[in-house]
Amino acid sequence: MPLKSGQSGINEKDRSHHQAVQAGQVKEALHEIGLKGITVTEAKGFGRQKGHTELYRGAEYVVDFLPKVKIEIVLEDDLVERAIEAITQAAHTGRIGDGKIFISSIEEVIRIRTGEKGAEAV
Ligand SMILES: Nc1ncnc2c1ncn2[C@@H]1O[C@H](COP(=O)(O)OP(=O)(O)OP(=O)(O)O)[C@@H](O)[C@H]1O
Ligand SMILES: [Mg+2]
Repeated sequence: MPLKSGQSGINEKDRSHHQAVQAGQVKEALHEIGLKGITVTEAKGFGRQKGHTELYRGAEYVVDFLPKVKIEIVLEDDLVERAIEAITQAAHTGRIGDGKIFISSIEEVIRIRTGEKGAEAV
């Protein structure tokens, strides 16, 4: 039987608590490698399971958004590999929905208070 919306076996309170704990662990791990700033956003999304915790072959299922935590960090290039390791270690459970790390380049950073640019401004 296909799972209906919300039938994930994890209630919203547990999920939200778990996400807060994981976000905290990610923040702590990043702090240790010299993080300068972080943005955490409560988001909605889905990955391969389309919002269901299990995929049933042939089942008709609807796409459903799940509450997620989106973490954005801007780092100097030489910290990226260590940041990936720290995030992976802190967030990995081995279960579906562990999340993804998307890597992209930032063209410029301007620190408004001081007018600094580039690495100095990060
Ligand atoms: N390709 C993507 N583009 C944008 N956002 C994505 C993408 N893949 C995942 N996400 C975001 O990351 C969240 C977690 O993704 P998730 O870990 O479930 O990915 P997955 O591909 O389904 O892998 P898994 O099978 O391990 O669950 C999604 O709910 C969504 O918000
Ligand atoms: Mg998934």
